Amino acid sequence: MRGFNFRSLTFTLIVACLVLLSNIESCNARRGKHWRGSASILASLSKKKGKVNHKSNHHHDKNGNNNNTKKKSPPSSKSPAISPPQSGGKQRGVISPPVGDSEGVSNIVYNVLDYGAKGDGISDDTKAFEVAWAAACEVEASTLMVPAEYTFLVGPVSFSGPHCQRNILFQLDGTMIAPTNAKAWSSGLFQWLLFTKLVGITVRGSGTLDGSGSVWWQNSSPFGDTIDDESKLIIPINKTINQDPSIPLSSSYGRQLPSLKPTALRFYGSFNVTVTGITIQNSMQCHLKFDNCIGVSVYNFTATSPGDSPNTDGIHLQNSKDVLIRSSNLACGDDCVSIQTGCSNVFIRNVNCGPGHGISIGGLGKDNTKACVSNVTVRDVVMDNTMNGVRIKTWQGGSGSVQGVSFSNIQISEVKFPIVIDQFYCDKRTCKNQTSAVALSGINYANIRGTYTVKPVHLACSDSMPCTGLTLSGIQLKPVQEHYHMYDSFCWHSFGQLFTQPEPPIECLQLGKPPNNHIQTDLDSC
Ligand SMILES: *[C@@H]1O[C@H](CO)[C@@H](O)[C@H](O)[C@H]1NC(C)=O
Ligand SMILES: *[C@@H]1O[C@H](CO)[C@@H](O)[C@H](O)[C@H]1NC(C)=O
Ligand SMILES: *[C@@H]1O[C@H](CO)[C@@H](O)[C@H](O)[C@H]1NC(C)=O
Ligand SMILES: *[C@@H]1O[C@H](CO)[C@@H](O)[C@H](O)[C@H]1NC(C)=O
Ligand SMILES: *[C@@H]1O[C@H](CO)[C@@H](O)[C@H](O)[C@H]1NC(C)=O
Ligand SMILES: *[C@@H]1O[C@H](CO)[C@@H](O)[C@H](O)[C@H]1NC(C)=O
Repeated sequence: MRGFNFRSLTFTLIVACLVLLSNIESCNARRGKHWRGSASILASLSKKKGKVNHKSNHHHDKNGNNNNTKKKSPPSSKSPAISPPQSGGKQRGVISPPVGDSEGVSNIVYNVLDYGAKGDGISDDTKAFEVAWAAACEVEASTLMVPAEYTFLVGPVSFSGPHCQRNILFQLDGTMIAPTNAKAWSSGLFQWLLFTKLVGITVRGSGTLDGSGSVWWQNSSPFGDTIDDESKLIIPINKTINQDPSIPLSSSYGRQLPSLKPTALRFYGSFNVTVTGITIQNSMQCHLKFDNCIGVSVYNFTATSPGDSPNTDGIHLQNSKDVLIRSSNLACGDDCVSIQTGCSNVFIRNVNCGPGHGISIGGLGKDNTKACVSNVTVRDVVMDNTMNGVRIKTWQGGSGSVQGVSFSNIQISEVKFPIVIDQFYCDKRTCKNQTSAVALSGINYANIRGTYTVKPVHLACSDSMPCTGLTLSGIQLKPVQEHYHMYDSFCWHSFGQLFTQPEPPIECLQLGKPPNNHIQTDLDSC
């Protein structure tokens, strides 16, 4: 009797499990179709383990790796990809191992041309990209192919999201251009192309994203955007060259666009993101942005926009960890790389920057917020004709800390402000003095050499929270009288060490530690 009960209980459990499983899978299938959208949280990424077996899907014939461009028949309009859950035990035995687990080698290619994209630069190919992505999203390590020698006009697209398989490759060899008609942008969007909540996403190729930014730059109001603090120090010697080129005239055309300017390519809430080979040009605002990402690798990447295009950061990092940016060329109208709050373990090397505003940490602590940045290494960088070299800027009233930053082997030429710490950052408003500040400590400058045109070193630290542990060695900065009034180095409440005598000499750095080792509790709060 007891044995029978036990067996019946086991049987009931098995049935319950099967029912549960099939519910989960059909639920996945349903959600899979809604790939554009749900607002589920990042946590759902880590929960998603159950894998649907796509190998049994008859839509995906397996062609070898040798011909990537081989045509695929587009999926019929009935639901693609996911077949009903394998209810019987029959199929279990014949499941082959999943493909593409290693090194992102993918067997299945989804070419946007096969999904109706025209690639003539005139027809709107947005829908084709969405449908091709929906198909690629279902298959682990698949490739979405944007072929060379075509130009695709594509409106804002979200390549999302939490229900996509891992390690998808977005192979960009052609050109994608953004629409310039106001209708495509509704009332304003944060980005043109968004990749969100993915695990292992690579955007690679020899192709280009063109943001058609000039219509947005014209729309820029001189007071609507942030303008760098240092610009107040730039005083032309000859008044006749005083026209500020960074304030273009607005046009009636541009005024129809939303005031919120999109980032060209943005990754949000993803793990193991790689961007390589591609060029992003003429972005509306920031070229490439990562927020809430862990494991970011950018190499052999090019961002290019005119030096007078407003707010066009090259690469923008926020709340992201384990970031490597190397072997890239960044030319833009704002920071080449901007590192914002929540970033740690950031490594930047072999980067060319210019035109642009240099490599910046901050502005941090705006509106009394807490900011935390740590372990940032910037080395082997060439800066040509940039506003700043390496800079840290914070707002008064913030809290938190910047700790463990190293800038080394920075070769500069005709840079206005090579070395800047500004804890009094304030853009357009008049900012009131406040005691609280983002604490700065352990900032190392080594081998920063070349020519400057306004002020070699500007270290302006908070009265209440001095900068500590600043070290300088191998600083050789030569003045070049260009068009501007020039200044000596400046320091305020900055403490540290000179390992070698800088050129020009920096008399103002206070050696050692601040006298009454200030309350640095904020250091611990990060
Ligand atoms: C690859 O596919 C393209 C387009 O279908 C075809 O023209 C080409 O001959 C194929 N190449 C090989 C090596 O199969
Ligand atoms: C960089 O990317 C371009 C374009 O994709 C490619 O031709 C070149 O081989 C790449 N260089 C390196 C060093 O990977
Ligand atoms: C200012 O610049 C203009 C045009 O470059 C030049 O003709 C003029 O002589 C300059 N004036 C001074 C005082 O340098
Ligand atoms: C990211 O890549 C690393 C190294 O390849 C791997 O160890 C890690 O598990 C990956 N992270 C995720 C969330 O897949
Ligand atoms: C600092 O970041 C580097 C990568 O840039 C990493 O290798 C290193 O482990 C990090 N150090 C700490 C203490 O986390
Ligand atoms: C803030 O403090 C600075 C330096 O102590 C002083 O020069 C400036 O006038 C103050 N600003 C305001 C708005 O109080």
